[in-house]
Amino acid sequence: MKPLSVMLSMLVIGITSSAAMAEGANLPNANLPDASLPNVSPANSELVNRGAYIARAADCMACHGENYTGGTAIETPMGKIYSTNITPSKRYGIGNYTEADLKNALQKGRAPDHMLYPAMPYPSYSGMKEEDISALFAYLQTVPAVDEAPKQETKLPFPFNFRSLMIGWNLLNIPSTEKRDGLNETQKRGEYLVNNLEHCGTCHTPRNSTMGFDKKMYLSGASLGNWHAPNITPDESSGIGSWSEQDIITYLRTGELDQRAYAGGPMGEAVAHSTRYLKNEDLSAIASYLKAIPAIQTEDKVNSVNVARLPTPVNESITHDLLAQKDYLAQAKSEVSNGSNSPEALYLAVCGSCHGVDGYGQPDARYAPIVGLSSLRREKPDALVNMILHGVESATNTSPIMPGFSEELSSEQIAGITNYVRTSFGGHANSEVSAADIERIASIGVEKPFLIKYAGLLAIVGIIVAILIIIFIVRAILRSRRRR
Ligand code: HEC
Ligand code: HEC
Ligand code: HEC
Repeated sequence: MKPLSVMLSMLVIGITSSAAMAEGANLPNANLPDASLPNVSPANSELVNRGAYIARAADCMACHGENYTGGTAIETPMGKIYSTNITPSKRYGIGNYTEADLKNALQKGRAPDHMLYPAMPYPSYSGMKEEDISALFAYLQTVPAVDEAPKQETKLPFPFNFRSLMIGWNLLNIPSTEKRDGLNETQKRGEYLVNNLEHCGTCHTPRNSTMGFDKKMYLSGASLGNWHAPNITPDESSGIGSWSEQDIITYLRTGELDQRAYAGGPMGEAVAHSTRYLKNEDLSAIASYLKAIPAIQTEDKVNSVNVARLPTPVNESITHDLLAQKDYLAQAKSEVSNGSNSPEALYLAVCGSCHGVDGYGQPDARYAPIVGLSSLRREKPDALVNMILHGVESATNTSPIMPGFSEELSSEQIAGITNYVRTSFGGHANSEVSAADIERIASIGVEKPFLIKYAGLLAIVGIIVAILIIIFIVRAILRSRRRR
């Protein structure tokens, strides 16, 4: 029966790539030094306000929406799993929940009348403290009830529609993390935030053969469909070993680190809905903990920032002045429409109007500066190529989005632009990404893994095998009885 359990476990793949698809929320400016908590109000009790903070720290909104009405699709290779309404609506939400019911849902993945799929991150919430669940329960009862079912319902194909089969998966994969020894009080708080509330590992820890967390590779980076969540262990060459604690705090507070890193897609969501609302002491605790975990070296090497190779913001020939840039871009556009495939002209024509001639973007209009970003400094171009192919959906509907270019550009053209931005703005001495590389990367998101494609078939085989085993056992028992 092992293949069946493996298949069931694969339900978890890709659950997080959904975050990029979550509907944008109307949020205040991300650059506030200590973002105010919109749900915390002096009119509420201390318990309710504490619950509002837990909801932020556990990022319930990323999936259930800012008004908790659900309906966000979580993409999995088996089909879409939709988040549910968790407002106090008695008919459509969790208005009939007791505190014990909420505890079971969060810690055991068990709703009153069915098992949940691990698209709901209960493997991480399983370690949530009782007092935090009580506060969360008190708070969730105060949010406006919305008597509306999510627009879509989860309908997975056979055999994944058998929810009770998750019981077996849970036995294998909960708890999902281990407590480390030798941490100080701050780091222990950081561990609780990272592992249980913020569930950072859901995206950053790779999966084992049963699709639970691969504990040996804790936080060392994982693929989420079209996105890659990088290695965030303190390794110097492939992780964030070169980041100071303050760098980590700034990134989680604002979603960017000047000339170093940018929080796009699912990470942009995590920042917008959750980390930017954390108290400074909690962000410090996370940073301190991330410095204390074992460094793991992975193949996903990232070059250090090479300032000498990066353009300065105001260059003699290319100025930061938008009007001056305009002629330059117009010229490149006409070159490209006349058939030029020069990578520089392509960059200017396709990307330049948003990211600027010199890659410094238009920060005032929230067009990201891309100079020096880690996604351009990686040895593997995969994450960057996926951004160019599929675009970068913005986490808040107040900022612009980046479209994908898989339809508009040929593989050769995407390869040319990739090489251009990696060398001009990423500091690579050279970059030799080919059209074949682009096609390989583009095909990964499309191909369903073998086990999923044949899951229905294998499940039937599994059931037949199980029946054979039962027949075999019954016969053996009967035979031994007869012998007596
Ligand atoms: C990564 C996405 C994600 C996050 C984060 C998340 N949920 Fe969920 N949640 C889901 C999905 C998807 C379902 C439906 C699962 C299913 O159909 O099996 C769900 C189901 C639930 C249910 C069961 C409702 C029912 O059907 O009875 C409850 C309760 C719940 N979530 C509460 C929460 C709370 C509270 C938080 C924050 C602490 C949270 N969720 C965070 C995705 C998420
Ligand atoms: C929903 C999935 C998701 C969750 C949850 C998540 N991350 Fe990320 N994270 C990503 C992705 C994807 C990227 C790459 C973003 C990009 O390059 O635009 C990223 C990037 C990062 C980076 C930048 C690394 C680099 O080299 O540029 C750091 C640091 C980070 N995450 C830390 C965290 C921490 C700490 C948490 C928990 C508080 C967390 N992440 C939760 C998906 C996630
Ligand atoms: C219509 C404007 C627009 C165009 C055209 C555009 N981008 Fe973007 N790009 C954006 C915006 C906006 C973001 C940030 C999205 C967000 O805030 O979530 C972004 C983000 C990025 C990032 C994110 C870095 C990270 O690590 O998350 C990279 C790299 C990037 N763009 C490269 C390119 C390249 C290369 C091209 C040309 C093929 C291009 N962009 C074309 C608007 C654009």
